[in-house]
Amino acid sequence: MMWFEPTPFVLGGARHAHLKVNGLSAGYGPFMVLRDLRLEVRPGLTVVLGPNGAGKTTLLKALSGLIPRRGEVLLNESLLPTKTNEIVQRGMALVAEGRQLFPQMTVTENLELGGWLVSKAERVRRLEHAFEDFPKLRERAHQLAGTMSGGEQQMVAVARAMMSAPRLLMLDEPSLGLAPKMVDELMTIARRIADSGTTVLMVEQNVKKALAVADRGYVMERGVLVASGPAKLLARSSVVREAYLGADKKDTKPPANVQRRPVPVPA
Ligand SMILES: Nc1ncnc2c1ncn2[C@@H]1O[C@H](COP(=O)(O)OP(=O)(O)OP(=O)(O)O)[C@@H](O)[C@H]1O
Ligand SMILES: [Mg+2]
Repeated sequence: MMWFEPTPFVLGGARHAHLKVNGLSAGYGPFMVLRDLRLEVRPGLTVVLGPNGAGKTTLLKALSGLIPRRGEVLLNESLLPTKTNEIVQRGMALVAEGRQLFPQMTVTENLELGGWLVSKAERVRRLEHAFEDFPKLRERAHQLAGTMSGGEQQMVAVARAMMSAPRLLMLDEPSLGLAPKMVDELMTIARRIADSGTTVLMVEQNVKKALAVADRGYVMERGVLVASGPAKLLARSSVVREAYLGADKKDTKPPANVQRRPVPVPA
């Protein structure tokens, strides 16, 4: 099953999105959450793991222009604007924590809102694509979004974001509160989107399942990135296994490609 064709209507051409972040700091007023982050989101699926309060959502908000940021963010070698609407126009879409659907609107109406920037004809075309890719949503096209299950609502939220035909899709904990089978389905969807050419940056606490579908990953703790590497190696690394997968210290060997950086002690 394919997602949307490469997107010739997106500014900058159909090149797969590649984000480079350097010296990123962001927070809320005087309270700095992220400090001097350096990360790269290459074409494919990148996951950011970390415990509650680590700053994962803050990272996605900073990249989406929802909060001010310092530092350099490059999308395919050109500077990313700081205003949300300009960031959206550059092809970045965020599925926020909590989905933020319009509960009193139908599935179709919610999806249409994701395509509000394009012509009616194009919106109709994309809606059809969305229903092809999410057959379950076609069956529920006229159901009020607020009456759907958590997993179904998460699907609507992802499909709505895809209606803007983004080059880079950011997902904030898509598996939150979902039953295991639904988590698997959402992870498969994220993988499929990445395989069809939209770069995916996913924040997750479901470490095992996220690393199983991701290409690369980062681990964030208290606003800094403490480990990074290919997903398969991260899953085997001591930093991830000890902290998140409940492994015994003795049977872990840090693979060479996983970088473990010291966690700075808060001042
Ligand atoms: N609007 C806000 N105003 C002030 N502080 C905030 C705000 N939103 C988040 N924070 C703080 O920023 C820090 C990081 O929060 P963030 O939501 O980014 O964490 P997270 O990694 O997404 O956690 P979770 O896994 O629970 O969603 C926390 O200490 C949180 O209390
Ligand atoms: Mg969060």
